[in-house]
Amino acid sequence: MTRSSAIGADNEVVISPLPRVLDPHRLPNHIAIIMDGNGRWANERRLPRAMGHSAGVDALKRTLRLCSDWGINVLTVYAFSTENWSRPREEVNFLMSLFERVLKKELQSLNLKKVRIDFLGDLDQLPSRLQDLINEATEVTAKNNGICFNVCTNYGGRRELVLAAQRLALKAVEGDLDPNLIDENIFASELLTANSGDPDLLIRTSGERRLSNFLLWQLAYSEIHVTDIYWPDFDVKDLTSALLDYQSRTRRFGGVEPMPPNDI
Ligand code: FPP
Repeated sequence: MTRSSAIGADNEVVISPLPRVLDPHRLPNHIAIIMDGNGRWANERRLPRAMGHSAGVDALKRTLRLCSDWGINVLTVYAFSTENWSRPREEVNFLMSLFERVLKKELQSLNLKKVRIDFLGDLDQLPSRLQDLINEATEVTAKNNGICFNVCTNYGGRRELVLAAQRLALKAVEGDLDPNLIDENIFASELLTANSGDPDLLIRTSGERRLSNFLLWQLAYSEIHVTDIYWPDFDVKDLTSALLDYQSRTRRFGGVEPMPPNDI
């Protein structure tokens, strides 16, 4: 049985099969998502922005379940950036209480589905009730062997790099590390994604073509898929399109494509 599933009527287990257009052997191991467009989705419907974020939670639950059912090992999402504090106080407060409500409500089902949840970012600046819930969710799901779900919260890519550099410098000053030995592997081991590795695919919704300070180191060789769909509308066909797009790419990691054998 696939390790994740939705619980349907009569507690029957419902697993979404991988669409037949996708090659099960060429799926990304790690998908990262910039979930953008909640506000515009709400504006277009003359709804408060908060309703866009609530609809965004539904899209996130849908996407996490599909990724889990289809055998993706890691999903990393950008929930709140270090820059998002500059939004109107009302919206920031709403987002913080939304994170709390969702965590409280979903923890049990995430755990049942064997999801391992982790929060990446400067968590000590978050409201203390949210920090407590984050600690609880991380501890309760730590030993799960299903999809690893990273929620970037109060996350900034530059800040992550600066903190990694500080930690390495401190180790060097204390005599625990020879600066000449610092290489890409040692540097990456100081990043918040040390246990998840780099995303193979980045999906960004709502059409913007920017990284917005997201996973600046980790996205160096990721394939990028941008869709005009607003995040709350992102569904199974959009995830399928993103994966089809990914499977159409030849990943060269800076090398050259292998030449086909010469016809003699
Ligand atoms: C970007 O849309 C979205 C966000 C800043 C918030 C994303 C958060 C969620 C989807 C909820 C996640 C919940 C949990 C528990 C992880 P925007 O507001 O920037 O949209 P706009 O660009 O159209 O204004």
